[in-house]
Amino acid sequence: MFVNIVFILVYSCSGPIKRNTLNMKLSKQERANSASEKNSKSMCDYLLVFKNGNKIIIRVCLIFYNAKCVCLFQPVLMTGGNYIREGRDSSKSTCLVLSPQNTQEVGALAKILKLFEENEVNLLHIESRPSKRQHGHYEFMFECDPTTGNLDVATNKLRESCEYLQVILRNHNDNKKLGESVPWFPRRIRDLDRFANQILSYGAELDADHPGFTDPEYRKRRKYFADIAYNYRHGEPLPHVDYTKEEIETWGVVFKELSRLYPTHACKEHNHVFPLLIQNCAYREDNIPQLQDVSNFLKDCTGFTLRPVAGLLSSRDFLAGLAFRVFHSTQYIRHPSRPLYTPEPDVCHELLGHAPLFADPAFAQFSQEIGLASLGAPDDYIEKLATLFWFTVEYGMCNQDGELKAYGAGLLSSYGELQYCLEGKAELRPFEPEKTCLQKYPITSYQPIYYVANSFEEAKAQMIKYAQTVPRPFGVRYNPYTQSVEILDSKEQIEDLMTCSNQDMQVLIDALKKLATESN
Ligand SMILES: [Fe+2]
Repeated sequence: MFVNIVFILVYSCSGPIKRNTLNMKLSKQERANSASEKNSKSMCDYLLVFKNGNKIIIRVCLIFYNAKCVCLFQPVLMTGGNYIREGRDSSKSTCLVLSPQNTQEVGALAKILKLFEENEVNLLHIESRPSKRQHGHYEFMFECDPTTGNLDVATNKLRESCEYLQVILRNHNDNKKLGESVPWFPRRIRDLDRFANQILSYGAELDADHPGFTDPEYRKRRKYFADIAYNYRHGEPLPHVDYTKEEIETWGVVFKELSRLYPTHACKEHNHVFPLLIQNCAYREDNIPQLQDVSNFLKDCTGFTLRPVAGLLSSRDFLAGLAFRVFHSTQYIRHPSRPLYTPEPDVCHELLGHAPLFADPAFAQFSQEIGLASLGAPDDYIEKLATLFWFTVEYGMCNQDGELKAYGAGLLSSYGELQYCLEGKAELRPFEPEKTCLQKYPITSYQPIYYVANSFEEAKAQMIKYAQTVPRPFGVRYNPYTQSVEILDSKEQIEDLMTCSNQDMQVLIDALKKLATESN
């Protein structure tokens, strides 16, 4: 029985074409009526027609696998404790984004490809697109295998003949010889797939002191949740889960106890959204909401969406998701033996603690600012931004109408700490990003220090100001229409941004004029 289809990337070409010989501008791509398509269900050929009339056929393989062969998608434990997907690890490749000095010159791309060939660098993927940095120019993105040839020599030679060249690396710290480079970061929302499975620990692995460590049924269930998240890809529906009776009872205990505390302990934004989640997403004592329903609700409110995660992501990857208003969420639930305790984030933490606030526009913008600041940031700044996330989105408190309230998800999902944080036992400090980012914190006990914000709007302004201190040679802007991050490092881009801002300002002025006319 066939249960899934896997696309294998295309590198092998039929005929005498060899790697790195795609030396003409591609103008057309057609499905070829080739022998392979007729002969095999697992292959089809594409005919590529170039502007100079040359043609090549590229063969695409489709691999069908049955239930007995699902090992193709099983995570593999690598040295260092990381699990990665079996096969080519595309996130470890090196990307060069460049624009030749004269993109209109015939054979410009051919010259670049020749350089790669001379230096025996294998190319894994090529893209061309209009340059956003220079109007009328093209830019190319070359994904290279860093383990082959002399990539550093090729890169240095390319710099001499390019208007600009940017090196983007996943393993940034190991490749200093490539000169100025920035750590890899996702540019499009679908790029989140590329690190989704670069996890520090797989969700099915439990520590010896975990309440479910000796429970084989619970461990089996955790593996089920980890596996469905592991196989998730951007654009697919979020996995629907049929929770067991025992799991729903555990949720019910947490839901009931926390719901009692929210009116007096949670911030007004949380208390505003929570009833809406009950109405729209089936938040009930006897029902664990589905991630898809909550994600749909958040998307309508602020554009935030949820994405299942199989385990613990690095701080860099987790924060990068926020830049796209994507929140990586667990889907499993804590062990039933201790319903009011969990040593790690679970579905109670995500849906009761995080989800309500992501429906608030100011909070959503604040969270995205942390994410945008993290893109391409040096490692020490990633640590500072993760600390800011900890003391705000996870354990933040705020002053509202003269009263202290909780807005952090770690507080709003913990029956014990939600009460503790308002009992005056912990130290309270004002939220000041440049100081808060340096504070150390425990992760297994109640927090000894909480940082208090005056409002989300003020915290957002503070974060935007702090983000300007992150050392990187470009600015970033999220484009919600294309769900991509634009790098701002040229005069043309700044001018385009100013044009957009002027148009927004015009809309504002028109609306104000109409309002003034009506009130007269
Ligand atoms: Fe969290």
